[in-house]
Amino acid sequence: MSVIDQMSVVVTAVKQVAPMIKEFTLEPLEGQLTPFSPGAHVVVTMAGTESTYRNAYSLMSDPQDNSQYRIAVRLQETSRGGSVYMHQQVEVGTQLKISPPSNLFAPQWMAKKHVLFAGGVGITPFLSYLPALQRQQVPFELHYMYRSQQTGAYRIELTESLADRCHCYDADQGNRCDVSAVMSAQPLGTHFYICGPESLIEAVQTTADEMGIPPSAIHWEAFAGAKPGQPFVVELSGRGVELDVAADSSLLEALEAADIKIPNLCRAGVCGQCVCDVAGGEVEHRDSYLSDTEKQSGRVIMPCVSRAAGERLVLDI
Ligand code: FES
Repeated sequence: MSVIDQMSVVVTAVKQVAPMIKEFTLEPLEGQLTPFSPGAHVVVTMAGTESTYRNAYSLMSDPQDNSQYRIAVRLQETSRGGSVYMHQQVEVGTQLKISPPSNLFAPQWMAKKHVLFAGGVGITPFLSYLPALQRQQVPFELHYMYRSQQTGAYRIELTESLADRCHCYDADQGNRCDVSAVMSAQPLGTHFYICGPESLIEAVQTTADEMGIPPSAIHWEAFAGAKPGQPFVVELSGRGVELDVAADSSLLEALEAADIKIPNLCRAGVCGQCVCDVAGGEVEHRDSYLSDTEKQSGRVIMPCVSRAAGERLVLDI
């Protein structure tokens, strides 16, 4: 996605759907919204006073409804500013720039059954899955883990509409999901989808390994984007330019602010699109895309999430 592909939208509704989560309805300023598929996300540009943040948010509306998009944003304790901006600055009437939808987390329609594991605000991509799964009349079940005093949005609606296909686990009530029991009860050919914290993704992956479920049947999306870090200087050897990367800015955002276009899709260190060659300096790798060998080589970096380990980094761009 390049910055010039952006669409202009206006916020037409804001709802507090859980103590830490707000839902935003976005409608086009003119023309039509781009159609999307279940599991798609958009990147929202937030022009703060100090920095411009770009965060990816799952579309949670019905993919058959192109009149509006809906996204939900959890206020992050370790926010670089993006979620705080959405919670404090964005209200009905605010205009935003968003990317067209991309999808790195689509349902696998050949699956015999679909089992969805959602943690907190990780419910959002599944809200666009559910109408599609119901229309296709395929077997599925949702396991939704949350803390009712913080997250836990939509649990009442989901329980009402999905009945026994929705399993809710409120950690504030001491309820935990036994991932291994859920997975071992599924028929051969089931695909598993996870959106939530790393601990949940790892629990499902580890159980799948133990049970001999192939990695091709496990699909996950981490909702954590770039996290803050130490400020550093990046030198672009091909251009003879130096840029400051602030503590609350990602390297990708710093490059974009200098009008340097880097392909990107997930902005979460997963898709591999933004890879850049490193010509000097040490990298603090924070992505889930590069192999251990690639990371150890120190010759590549995913600038959407990773940073310099020291005060200076040289990129070969
Ligand atoms: S944009 Fe996907 S890994 Fe960086």
